[in-house]
Formats: sequence, structure tokens, C-alpha cells
Amino acid sequence: MEAEEAAEPTVAEGETTGEEEEAAAEEEAGEEEAEAHIEDIAFSFEGPFGKYDQFQLQRGLQVYTEVCSACHGLKFVPIRTLADEGGPALPENQVRAYAAGLTEVLDPETDEERPRLPTDHFPAISGDGMGPDLSLMAKARAGFHGPYGTGMSQLFNGIGGPEYIHAILTDYTGEEMEQAGSVFYQNTAFSGGYIAMPAPLSDDLVTYEDGTPATVDQMARDVSAFLMWTAEPKMMDRKQVGLVSVLFLIVLTALLYLTNKRLWAPHKGKHLGS
Ligand code: HEC
Repeated sequence: MEAEEAAEPTVAEGETTGEEEEAAAEEEAGEEEAEAHIEDIAFSFEGPFGKYDQFQLQRGLQVYTEVCSACHGLKFVPIRTLADEGGPALPENQVRAYAAGLTEVLDPETDEERPRLPTDHFPAISGDGMGPDLSLMAKARAGFHGPYGTGMSQLFNGIGGPEYIHAILTDYTGEEMEQAGSVFYQNTAFSGGYIAMPAPLSDDLVTYEDGTPATVDQMARDVSAFLMWTAEPKMMDRKQVGLVSVLFLIVLTALLYLTNKRLWAPHKGKHLGS
């Protein structure tokens, strides 16, 4: 019933949240599918010509490293890809230093702990109070479901994975609830309304080297973009190949049309040049 809200991204937030909170609290037991309103964000990588913003990815990496990595792993992401063109594109020596600064890794050959190398992956994190691995989270969640659960808005706005992550990070209400010895935090973007993750961001939690003001919204955008890149590092290549293919098909169509015309010309009583 609330699903259609995804199709109209700019509903005044302040007015709806009150109702949504109540609704979420009431529906807690019964309906699972009550979808929260997820704000659409114009990320640089959207659309057929979209590209990752290298500096945004670097800021997102910083937020992940300084904040999220305490509780979330990125076990599917090879550290060396931080140097990739089209990604954060860090210089090689910075990537080596970054790898060395992470936790040690058990070398499968020597069976001994050794410092991490760029060829290793980011650490996997597990244990009490830790969150799920974030490598593929931006592709595992959908921000847009509407209208009426058809998912049509995804055609225009994308699946909304990064928007979902941004919403999870920014839609805390400040309310808490204790249940069976664990604390849950009210979050209007999370299905069920309460999440086990305490609000991880607060203004100026990190200091960006490029001087970008580190508001909660900005950090959430940057880390969401970064997590989109970890989930789909080859998106730009994919779009480029798609574009070249379409151009090729257009040229091929034109040539085939002309060929067809020429082949049929004698039978249609027309006389072309030769
Ligand atoms: C104190 C530990 C902690 C920190 C720090 C933390 N998280 Fe979490 N996170 C969790 C836990 C625990 C969960 C599981 C919540 C649940 O299922 O109720 C979670 C869940 C999530 C989810 C999944 C929500 C879903 O739909 O299942 C996302 C996305 C996420 N965190 C992103 C982040 C990002 C991005 C950061 C850094 C800005 C971060 N987290 C920092 C503990 C943490």
C-alpha cells in the first residue's frame, strides 16, 4: 500500500515520517512488505553515460575504513582493485600501504599470519554485534518497489541499492527498544522499523582531505557510492560495451537496409545507377 511512494521521490519527508512510524509500529507483527519511503539520489554513475566519481569513491573508502569496517567486512573485494581506473584509482604505493594497515591474514601456503598484500581481499568480519558483509549489499537490496509493488519505478530510477544504503544510514529516529537483552534502533528505512545497528554516522565523524563538509548525508552518499562500486566494479566497462554494441547495430541496420533495397530493386522495376 505504501509501495507507490517510491515512484514519487520528493514527498516532504518530515510530514510523512510521523505516520510511517506509527504505521511501522502497528504493522510490526503482521505485514512484512510495508516498504519505507526511500529518497532517490542522482548519483554520478546513473544513466547510460554515468561514471563513478573517483573522489567520491575515495571519500567512501575513507568512511568505510574509519567507521563501517569495525563491524562489516568486504570479503569479496580484492584490495588491488582500489588502484583500478574507473574505480577509486589510488596510486599503487597508497594501495600497498592501505593493505599493510589492515589486519593480518593467514597465509594458506605457510599456515602463518602475515601482513595483507594488495593481492589479498579486504577482511571478512564476523562475530557478536557484527553486521553482514557489505561487498554485494548495494546489489542485494532494492530501494524502489513501486508503484503497487510492480517495480516499474526501477526502470527509471534504477534498482535503488545505493539509495537504500543511504536511507538506512540517515533514517534513524533516535528511538530505541530493548528486546531479549538486545537493543534495537528505530529506523524508518529498515523493514520492520527497528535495526540492530546503532546509528553509525554523526556530523564530522571523519575529516575529508578534499575539504568536503562531512555531514551525515554527505558521508552516507559517499559510502553508498563506494559500496555500489564494490558490488559492481565493472559498471563503466559494461555501459561502454553496451553503447558500442548499440552504435554498431545502428550502423549494421542502415547497411542491411541499403543492401536489401539494392537487391530488390531490379524486381521492383526500379533502376539504380549501375
Ligand atoms: C557497531 C557496529 C556497526 C557499525 C559501525 C556499522 N554497522 Fe552496519 N550493521 C551492523 C549490524 C549489527 C547490522 C545488522 C542489523 C540487523 O539486521 O538488524 C548492520 C546492518 C547493516 C546493513 C544492512 C541492512 C539490511 O538491509 O540488512 C547495511 C547496509 C549497513 N549495516 C551499512 C553500514 C555502513 C555503510 C556502515 C558505516 C557507515 C555501518 N553499517 C556501520 C553493525 C554495524
